[in-house]
Amino acid sequence: MIQLKSAEEIRIMDKANAIVHKVLDALEAAVAPGVVLGDLDRMAHSLTLSAGAKPAFKGYHGYPASVCISVNDEVVHGIPGSRALKQGDLVSLDFGVVYEGFYGDAAKTCVVGPADEKARLLLDVTRESLMKGIQQVRPGNRVSDISHAVQEWVESHGFSVVRDYVGHGIGRALHEDPQIPNFGERGHGPRLQPGMVLAIEPMVNEGGFEVTVDDDGWTVRTKDGLRSAHFEYSVAVTSSEPVILGVGGAA
Ligand code: MF3
Ligand code: CO
Repeated sequence: MIQLKSAEEIRIMDKANAIVHKVLDALEAAVAPGVVLGDLDRMAHSLTLSAGAKPAFKGYHGYPASVCISVNDEVVHGIPGSRALKQGDLVSLDFGVVYEGFYGDAAKTCVVGPADEKARLLLDVTRESLMKGIQQVRPGNRVSDISHAVQEWVESHGFSVVRDYVGHGIGRALHEDPQIPNFGERGHGPRLQPGMVLAIEPMVNEGGFEVTVDDDGWTVRTKDGLRSAHFEYSVAVTSSEPVILGVGGAA
């Protein structure tokens, strides 16, 4: 069942996501050669507590860290540990908090040091595909209109969208209905209506869309070993324009 949020609840979710973005920005600023992923995780944890929120992922189905950090061929759910970043690494940061009973969830990908041309294109196309999806977030459209817009943008640039992991509704739970795939034909799935909040999160691979999960039970990586990028926003459906939560646009 899709849980609709009131204007007041969306205001709280905007704050939750503002904390998420503040932490993601701090993590991105800290990304550099030699930086150890576990230290980024500790940074995320303490910044979140200072902001009056709690990390959402730690303990979620047993996930052991506060932030998911997925490097190069890792797609999502990478566990930050003793690995140190190297020049040229592609780093996906996925972070969520719970604040006053509501969840915020967002992700972004960056490169350590100067990006090679292919990495820059992968990042640009993934970020743009998220925005193409968000442009479909208006009442009367259906969920798969988002999915189709993402897939079309990605594939027209020669990349592929991951099938095995999808976006989701978000609110008093991290994952609510509906699921939001990053692929599909237009005109399917639930109709969008004001009060829905959707976490849209394209995961885009340089090569094929197939992925595998490591023995740690979490780390998802590409089957072909090529790199992957991930961008995510939590977005509120309104009677007119979509509102990206936590970026300073909500009332
Ligand atoms: N942003 C991701 C999601 O929505 C990460 C959550 S998985 C977790 O699905 F287990 F790490 F929490
Ligand atoms: Co998510």
